[in-house]
Amino acid sequence: MIDQAEKLRLMVRHHERRAVVFAVTSGKGGVGKSNIAANLALCLARTDRRVLLIDADLGLANLDVLLQVRAPANLSHVINGRRQLQDIITPGPAGLRLICGASGLAQLADINDFQRQRLIQDMEYLEQQVDFIIIDTGAGISHNVVGFCRAADHVLVISTPEPTSITDAYAMIKILSREPEGVKLSLLVNMADDRTEAKKVYQRLAVVAKKFLSVVVYDAGYILRDDHFTQAVRQQQPLVLTFPHCQAALCINALAGKLGRSANADAPGMGFFRRVANWFF
Ligand SMILES: Nc1ncnc2c1ncn2[C@@H]1O[C@H](COP(=O)(O)OP(=O)(O)OP(=O)(O)O)[C@@H](O)[C@H]1O
Ligand SMILES: [Mg+2]
Repeated sequence: MIDQAEKLRLMVRHHERRAVVFAVTSGKGGVGKSNIAANLALCLARTDRRVLLIDADLGLANLDVLLQVRAPANLSHVINGRRQLQDIITPGPAGLRLICGASGLAQLADINDFQRQRLIQDMEYLEQQVDFIIIDTGAGISHNVVGFCRAADHVLVISTPEPTSITDAYAMIKILSREPEGVKLSLLVNMADDRTEAKKVYQRLAVVAKKFLSVVVYDAGYILRDDHFTQAVRQQQPLVLTFPHCQAALCINALAGKLGRSANADAPGMGFFRRVANWFF
């Protein structure tokens, strides 16, 4: 039974502002998720928004390498009691905050109820300290990836124009569209040769999703194929900071503007971390 104080606490919680959470995901691997998540986060951070980027790829976490930051610890150190949550937030370029949470998130299952509640509360507090949380997930339809997407407010499914990538994006959309809680789904076409090609990919996928899954897939736009990406990755420098005027950087800037505007209102309801915890355990 919920007592009066608990009811009040829940009411207050529901009216507290919290970050808007975007999950960046895909069916097929290697389509550009991590690069897009990092550069999108940077574009939002450059506009004075407080942005937290979380590496939630439980297999191959690599945002620290992409952004050339040294993350002294990750969530696993918080879980085993060696660090406080605030100690593992690594400052990145443009005021960005980064959490390397990879293995730690999987270990959440092993902690006791009391520790878990405390950690979730600390994380919920963190959610109130930022405007946007960007989650870079692994590829594919695993329990973990679906869990992060399900807990987000808005999922950006990335596909390239390759038929295999489109098929896998559709499979991901199919899984996510089954979730009872409506998550906003958008398709972002990466490595497009031009606008026409990207629009064709979007149309094809959106029409099939509407017809067979009765789900609306929004158009997040596209990012052009651009060799500057490879150069930026080799130099371990974020594209939007190193080559701010290249075609792909302009596309990511436009995407950040669009997402920033669409998400100006504070997100309602239960926090992201609590939803993640509910899904996993
Ligand atoms: N628009 C683009 N034009 C050219 N190359 C790109 C573009 N986007 C990404 N790449 C390249 O694609 C490669 C894969 O990118 P990334 O690691 O971000 O993919 P991912 O989806 O996160 O992969 P994984 O599924 O393994 O996590 C990188 O080498 C990157 O430079
Ligand atoms: Mg990746």
